Amino acid sequence: MEIKKLIEKYEGEMIACRQDLHMHPELSFEEFETTEKIIAVLKDLGIEYRKTEPTGVIADIKGGSDGPIVALRADMDALSVNELNENLSYKSKNEGKMHACGHDSHVSMLLCAAKVLNDIKDTLKGTVRLIFQPAEETAGGAKAQVEQGAMENVDNIFGMHIWSNIPTGKISCLVGSSFAAADFFTVDFKGKGGHGSMPQQCIDTAVMASSFVMNVQSIVSREISPLKSAVVTIGKMEVGSRFNVIAENAKLEGTSRTFEYETRDKVEDSIRKFAQYTATMYGGKANVDYTRATPPVINDKESALLAQKIIKESFGEDSLIFEEPTTGGEDFSYFLEKSKNGGAFALVGCGNPEKQTNAAHHNGKFNVDDDALKYGVELYVKYAKEYLDKQ
Ligand code: NI
Repeated sequence: MEIKKLIEKYEGEMIACRQDLHMHPELSFEEFETTEKIIAVLKDLGIEYRKTEPTGVIADIKGGSDGPIVALRADMDALSVNELNENLSYKSKNEGKMHACGHDSHVSMLLCAAKVLNDIKDTLKGTVRLIFQPAEETAGGAKAQVEQGAMENVDNIFGMHIWSNIPTGKISCLVGSSFAAADFFTVDFKGKGGHGSMPQQCIDTAVMASSFVMNVQSIVSREISPLKSAVVTIGKMEVGSRFNVIAENAKLEGTSRTFEYETRDKVEDSIRKFAQYTATMYGGKANVDYTRATPPVINDKESALLAQKIIKESFGEDSLIFEEPTTGGEDFSYFLEKSKNGGAFALVGCGNPEKQTNAAHHNGKFNVDDDALKYGVELYVKYAKEYLDKQ
């Protein structure tokens, strides 16, 4: 049976699965029930699987002939958000928790893809690895699964995110960067406290910290090429204790976003340099703690073009769109970094104003248009099959 027909056959089960997961959301690394539900389906299909710790599942569908391994990834966690969709028959039953980013749809699409791929496994020229990833929202899940061998021998990986900002039926897959590296940092300034009336005897970290905040603005405008992009945000400042006491300590916290490894290095170096020089200028000291969190998601050309070809052939020329890269982070990048031959990540539209499924992600009114799921599954299945075919 052709792939579209198989998807049609399983579509009802997929939607029911999505709505069930939506009703029972679980937070990052607490996806125990979700893990069990995934395992139940895989067991039923006779697909080999193993659990990862503490949650998550990895399964292999071995094809009719030997060949490379292509991985498909779906994240599984929900958010601490109160669901505000009052009239939804499948509204969250877990108070204060909600699938407000659509990861319920990712799991159900990948499970449906598992059914279809299992049906056509004799035609696969290699292995399809299914990665059900926990804790994307806290950016710890992909890393944990990589450490547990998720990417061992994987040649290429494909992932997707349902996207409410894109209409149902449209899909975006870019060549190059699509999600930014999301890093964070703290800067501790040390000065010398004293009476607010006698600044000449002190080293004022309030002035130092303020000056630093103004100075770092020029990293993006003066240090980075105008053809590249970056964000440097200081989100928190803690300085001083009283109106007439000169502050001895200041602590600043911020985040930076960059789309390329080179820009990321440059931004980190500049933040360190600006902190040191600013402190030195005022006679104080600075200590910078810079944490490289999620790497950027960079789709290699060949993989992205394969996804684009499938989108156009399967859903029509107009269905392929090019959504701007987002400054948000996506820990799919940890898998990409470990893939032998790269991979790609797509955004699958699920926005439909008539069904009120165009609310922002992470909003209490977020919801997924179930009609969007069939597009995602077809892309998952065909990406895996065609990647193996062309090797
Ligand atoms: Ni998400």
